[in-house]
Amino acid sequence: QRATGRRGGPRQGPGPSAREDLAHLAVSGQIAAHFACIARWMTSVPCDIRAIRAALLGWYDAHGRRSLPWRAGPGEAARDPYRVWLSEVMLQQTTVPHATPYFLTFLTRWPTVGALAAAPDAEVMAAWAGLGYYARARNLLACARAVSANHGGVFPDSEAGLLALPGVGAYTAAAVAAIAFDRPANVVDGNVERVMARLFALESPLPAAKPELKRLAASLIADDRPGDWAQALMDLGATVCRPRTPLCDRCPLTAQCAAFTGGRPERYPLRTAKAERPRRFGTAFVLFDDRGRVGLEQRPAKGLLGGMLGLPTTDWGLPDMAVAPPIATDWQAAGTVTHVFTHFALTLEVSIATGEGDLLWTPVEDARAGLPTVFRKALDRAVERRKGVGTP
Ligand code: ADE
Repeated sequence: QRATGRRGGPRQGPGPSAREDLAHLAVSGQIAAHFACIARWMTSVPCDIRAIRAALLGWYDAHGRRSLPWRAGPGEAARDPYRVWLSEVMLQQTTVPHATPYFLTFLTRWPTVGALAAAPDAEVMAAWAGLGYYARARNLLACARAVSANHGGVFPDSEAGLLALPGVGAYTAAAVAAIAFDRPANVVDGNVERVMARLFALESPLPAAKPELKRLAASLIADDRPGDWAQALMDLGATVCRPRTPLCDRCPLTAQCAAFTGGRPERYPLRTAKAERPRRFGTAFVLFDDRGRVGLEQRPAKGLLGGMLGLPTTDWGLPDMAVAPPIATDWQAAGTVTHVFTHFALTLEVSIATGEGDLLWTPVEDARAGLPTVFRKALDRAVERRKGVGTP
């Protein structure tokens, strides 16, 4: 029998009619693929997912932020799930530069998930102060304790297993599964949403477009290097495909980017106009004792800033709320501070005095380190005022 393969060499080949069938099939396959490609193009899914993946992973190898402390260093194959989980929880609402010192402090104080699980709540909450979203710190502890008590201190290595842990949501489960365990999970944060919105020039606005952006991100996932893929997208979003000023001249995806081709990449993602945040008002009472300590209180476990240390304050509401200070004394106005929470903006009058009372008396520097940002701002204002007018 004659060789039929293109490379030659003796092998069993189909007879002439089977060859014709094969040729026919190949041609119709090509035509079908061609139409499928056009169809995908028409629905703005790029044909060449492989080119996108190769370009971005190549860029990540050359320009990814390798030095981030939760990432495996060069030559380190294994990624520590504890570090990945801790960093992902911290990074959910804040930037890499802001989260990095917190991450390093946590890792020094609690190098393993078991160590964190055994830490007293108050210490962990105080170490979290300044990162915001304090429910997250409580969830962090709940998760560490579950991993310790129910999983022998070993994180589950699947997205479903991670999702079953207390306080672990869809984003964290996907991120840890991909980054720590190289599972092909769809990790979609704000950076990834922006990259997808631009790559596909999605005309529907956020937040309604979120499911569509997630589907688009899923269309690019593959079994090859899923952890690197997730981080490559995040890095591209953070350093090149930036919110206001994308650096398209440094982008590996311009050839495939519909927004770049359209000429106005910064337009994406579109957003529905947000209603303005309501504003609330209140007063914070900064009471110093005669040893320079400040009086704090532990906030109730539930509710805003729950379980954190705080300054005594009024309720936060309308501008003319009743003002009931923690002790009756000669309170002085020290100005105002403002702080923006997710659902409202707060204007806080700061009142200062010297006195005694049933409070947690704390050296000012320790208080600064352990207070949520809104109270640290108020304390700083009080300390400034005190220096300005002399010790009352
Ligand atoms: N933002 C959220 N997760 C991140 C990660 N693993 N690396 C860099 N930025 C991130």
